[in-house]
Amino acid sequence: MKSHDYIEREEKFGAHNYHPLPVVLDRGEGPFVWDVEGKRYYDFLSAYSAVNQGHCHPKIIGALTGQASKLTLTSRAFFNSVLGEYEEYVTKYFGYDKVLPMNTGAEGDETALKLCRKWAYLVKGIRQDRAKIIVCEGNFHGRTITIVSMSTDPDARKDYGPFTPGFITIPYNDLPALEKALADPDVAGFLVEPIQGEAGVFVPDEGYIKKAYDLCKKHNVLFIADEVQTGIARTGKLLACDHEGVRPDILILGKALSGGVLPVSAVLADNEIMMTIKPGEHGSTFGGNPLACKVAIAALEVVRDEHLAEKAERLGKIFREEMRALKSDMIELVRGKGLLNAIVIRPKNGKEAWDVCLAMKELGVLAKPTHSHIIRFAPPLVITEEQLMDAISLIKKAILQFS
Ligand SMILES: Cc1ncc(COP(=O)(O)O)c(C=O)c1O
Repeated sequence: MKSHDYIEREEKFGAHNYHPLPVVLDRGEGPFVWDVEGKRYYDFLSAYSAVNQGHCHPKIIGALTGQASKLTLTSRAFFNSVLGEYEEYVTKYFGYDKVLPMNTGAEGDETALKLCRKWAYLVKGIRQDRAKIIVCEGNFHGRTITIVSMSTDPDARKDYGPFTPGFITIPYNDLPALEKALADPDVAGFLVEPIQGEAGVFVPDEGYIKKAYDLCKKHNVLFIADEVQTGIARTGKLLACDHEGVRPDILILGKALSGGVLPVSAVLADNEIMMTIKPGEHGSTFGGNPLACKVAIAALEVVRDEHLAEKAERLGKIFREEMRALKSDMIELVRGKGLLNAIVIRPKNGKEAWDVCLAMKELGVLAKPTHSHIIRFAPPLVITEEQLMDAISLIKKAILQFS
């Protein structure tokens, strides 16, 4: 079978809820993926930053296969011999009292919203059904009904109503708007991405996260960070909030928590918040399964052992410098932190970000537009400087084809 056969089959039998680049991937190793024809590409999407540790990292795959033949799933109806080990590891790693394990990022966000509401009623003392959570325009937290209720993206919401109430939407990176919204005594939490990934790697002003956190503290409101995309070394620190010395009250992680091997997400918080949820009130069949736990421990060890945060910081600077130095009227803006970057593309002669991505694909670099005019560049953090420079020369060549 050739690429077009695979594509046709997916289109025939699968729902059309994605619009992929026409490339059929078959194998991956480190920063590379290969298509079914055997052509090699630099992966500059990393499965939306899930594969920070590189494709099929031997240590993570070792943990997977080692545990896979021993015990994979018990449900939480019983204890298992790995969950506690993981819970101790992950809470000490990120510095929280407790963790609640889930699977996808969206489930992590849903869990955080539920925790925040519980805390609002049991600790803060907000009257039943009055609790509100502040969210930001342009947010992306996943695809469930409640999560799209928080979205301002018409594509995410159209024909999916009625929506979940209880959210106040304010502009991102707007402290006066936050302060105004916080004046409402029924506000329980502020849910924010430290960098808006899906919105196009929108980096807020320096100091925004810290000041937003301080405002939340002033109003006894939980600061909830969705670090599903920005977390786990992607932006040059373990967490993007670390850039401003902020420790979120509730931290949501996903994606790279498993190095892209399994859906593993987690919500971390201290006892005052986490202990508000009682047995039977929340959970997931697969959450905290022994396979996921072993994989997540290995994935986090790789981040630490291979100094991936430091690497992302150093290589990210090189990426932005190189791209900013490129003389092309198609490049409107280069922005990002660590190895989470984006180029805003100015369309030229009818050619848009999508066309640039197709040209890059031909040259051996895979990236995908987020919205029609922004391309996100997020390679696996295990990429070497030499490989990065090679990929940069291919990206430049692709962009210059349109100049
Ligand atoms: C910030 C953020 N939160 C949540 C999610 C949802 O994660 P998942 O697709 O695993 O449900 C994403 C996915 O891109 C994300 O970027």
